[in-house]
Amino acid sequence: MRVLVTGGAGFIGSHVVDAFVADGHEVRVLDALLPAVHPAGVVPELPDGVEFLHGDVRDPATVDRALGGVDAVCHQAAMVGLGVDVQDMPEYAGINVLGTAVLLAGMARADIGRLVLAGSMVVYGEGRYECPVDGAVPAAARRREDLDAGRFEPPCPRCGRQLAWGPVTEETPPDPRNTYAATKLDQEHLAAAWASSTGGGAVALRYHNVYGPRMPRDTPYSGVAAIFRSALEAGRAPCVFEDGGQQRDFVHVTDVARANLCALTAEPPDGALRAYNVASGQPHTVGDMARALADAFGGPGPQVTGEYRIGDVRHVVASPARAADELGFRAQVTFADGMRAFATDPLRPAP
Ligand SMILES: NC(=O)c1ccc[n+]([C@@H]2O[C@H](COP(=O)([O-])OP(=O)(O)OC[C@H]3O[C@@H](n4cnc5c(N)ncnc54)[C@H](O)[C@@H]3O)[C@@H](O)[C@H]2O)c1
Ligand SMILES: [Zn+2]
Repeated sequence: MRVLVTGGAGFIGSHVVDAFVADGHEVRVLDALLPAVHPAGVVPELPDGVEFLHGDVRDPATVDRALGGVDAVCHQAAMVGLGVDVQDMPEYAGINVLGTAVLLAGMARADIGRLVLAGSMVVYGEGRYECPVDGAVPAAARRREDLDAGRFEPPCPRCGRQLAWGPVTEETPPDPRNTYAATKLDQEHLAAAWASSTGGGAVALRYHNVYGPRMPRDTPYSGVAAIFRSALEAGRAPCVFEDGGQQRDFVHVTDVARANLCALTAEPPDGALRAYNVASGQPHTVGDMARALADAFGGPGPQVTGEYRIGDVRHVVASPARAADELGFRAQVTFADGMRAFATDPLRPAP
């Protein structure tokens, strides 16, 4: 297939490009090389035969050019991070929401009917919890007085009892809790509207905590694995927030790339969007991850600080069953192997 990968110069996009090329697809990349992400003037290395277009998904003329002769689009371009500063809202909405809308309108003009969209676990907010008395309940908003007292587990919003966490499925109701999350959910909604009005097929891949080679170094927007790795490189102990017991699903970037390939080559949904968790299915705590990385690096062991960020979620883990059943995708890189390698994987330099 001839595929346009937006954001193909980024962390995940670059691995998606590698996976598509290795499978024999013809790839064009459209990437704006955002200055917050890429060092100025550096055009990233891409595999032989990949065409690189420097441009912005918000620009309709650029998008028309990028879509010429293309059979499918894999939309990775986005502004990532937490979206904690309200002043960043216009930029998040511009890149993630308007950019997706411009791309979808261009796809309709060019009569391209296949879309793979980079979604995110952030659409689930606090994840899924069960109360022993009240059954499945949404976790109540976290309160500073609890967190200050070291009570990190969210209580039942009805009876206050301790909740048990469980895996989110794609049917778990979305609950975006910050600007970035809101825009990632908007992207899915726009893609669903595009699919139903054009008859196209869209797959949204909701990635969980992605890590691996080319992950951005320690920046305000980095994932926790890169922050720990950067601390170890500086000879410092990884500082683990809360009590280190936060459960996450860490999924290797090469597995995420393969999930994109599975989605690209599967029978597309008919006039609809279908969402899939992209996860390993093996939850680990943030504390375990810090320990595995520190051991592999041979650096100081993690320090649990009890600090917290009010916008963080406590536990989010996922069921990978739907992607396995319908796309034939199963993560292959184990936590032990992936973290061992991540101690020395090359990271993307800060811009
Ligand atoms: N990293 C994670 O753990 C994670 C988790 C869930 C979802 N995602 C999603 O995966 C996708 C890729 O994320 P990433 O971690 O590789 O981020 P990244 O910042 O490394 O890559 C994004 C790329 O998109 C490009 N880009 C941004 N705005 C653009 C625009 N307006 N026009 C064209 N190109 C533009 C950037 O220059 C960059 O190269 C995003 O959609 C993100 O929301 C990432
Ligand atoms: Zn209860």
